[in-house]
Amino acid sequence: MPSISLELKTAMSDSAAEVERLMALLLPETGMAEQKLFDSMRYGALGGGKRLRPFLVMSSAKLFGVSDKAATRTAAAVEFIHCYSLIHDDLPAMDNSDLRRGKPTVHKAFDDATAVLAGDALLTYAFEILADRETHEDPNVRCNLVTALSRAAGSTGMVGGQMLDLIAETTPLDIGAITRLQRMKTGELIAFSCEAGAILGKAQPPQRQALRAFAHDLGLAFQIIDDLLDAEGSEARTGKSVGRDEKAGKATFVSILGHERARAQANLLADQAVRHLGIFEGRAKNLEQVARFVVERDF
Ligand code: IPE
Ligand code: IPE
Ligand code: MG
Ligand code: MG
Ligand code: MG
Repeated sequence: MPSISLELKTAMSDSAAEVERLMALLLPETGMAEQKLFDSMRYGALGGGKRLRPFLVMSSAKLFGVSDKAATRTAAAVEFIHCYSLIHDDLPAMDNSDLRRGKPTVHKAFDDATAVLAGDALLTYAFEILADRETHEDPNVRCNLVTALSRAAGSTGMVGGQMLDLIAETTPLDIGAITRLQRMKTGELIAFSCEAGAILGKAQPPQRQALRAFAHDLGLAFQIIDDLLDAEGSEARTGKSVGRDEKAGKATFVSILGHERARAQANLLADQAVRHLGIFEGRAKNLEQVARFVVERDF
């Protein structure tokens, strides 16, 4: 059973509720002719998910005394990117999944074309939010956020990783190639989330570097557990389609290392991640605890 502490549970649900409120405000019901687009964006973005990336943004921002408003807006932007990536990931042309966050995927509830557009719009909106003066008074900070998130989300990050992930269905990959795939597909967005607090708070390079190193290990551990949950998790608990990787013949840490070694590797990475937080001298408790959560979760 996952041993998520009450302290972490409360911190995560408080952060999720705060970010969710803002996300709902940012996605209004317009009553315009294109309302279907907004409905699909709201459907894909609101009411569900662990909100892990927002929690990482909020927790890293707290280390540097960043305002709640700046942190929450940045957290919402990252989550919009993440939700877009899930909407597109579930499409028939990609993983062809019917279930996400305990309900039918966006293309099932609407249609394929609307799901493509909902993803496109959430992606674009994330950058509009970051570039807005409301997010931070310093234009250099806003520019740094936009640059870092572009790199994390695009061809050098998540999208590039998704391409490699498709290739992994037909080409045998070794452990090094899979590590690179996972770091791009999942790790880069998680890394941005951890670094965002440092960018917003204009942190010193060693502190930003420590967060990057933490995220590097955390992201990989996170994806190994995601792959394990695909292989052994339940649809009821994860709220999403499982068993897709093996069906697609996809090379993952689990297919190469087997279940036990994959889990051991994820645990090692989580321990290693926490060690990078030493520089914060115990002030990064949320991040320390979330590393354990990531490897102990069953959803
Ligand atoms: C699932 O991410 C997709 C991956 C990047 C592995 P999450 O497990 O964070 O999904 P939600 O946001 O909680 O639904
Ligand atoms: C998707 O990875 C990662 C993204 C960038 C969306 P998966 O395909 O393994 O994610 P799930 O298992 O469908 O959530
Ligand atoms: Mg996928
Ligand atoms: Mg998928
Ligand atoms: Mg998966």
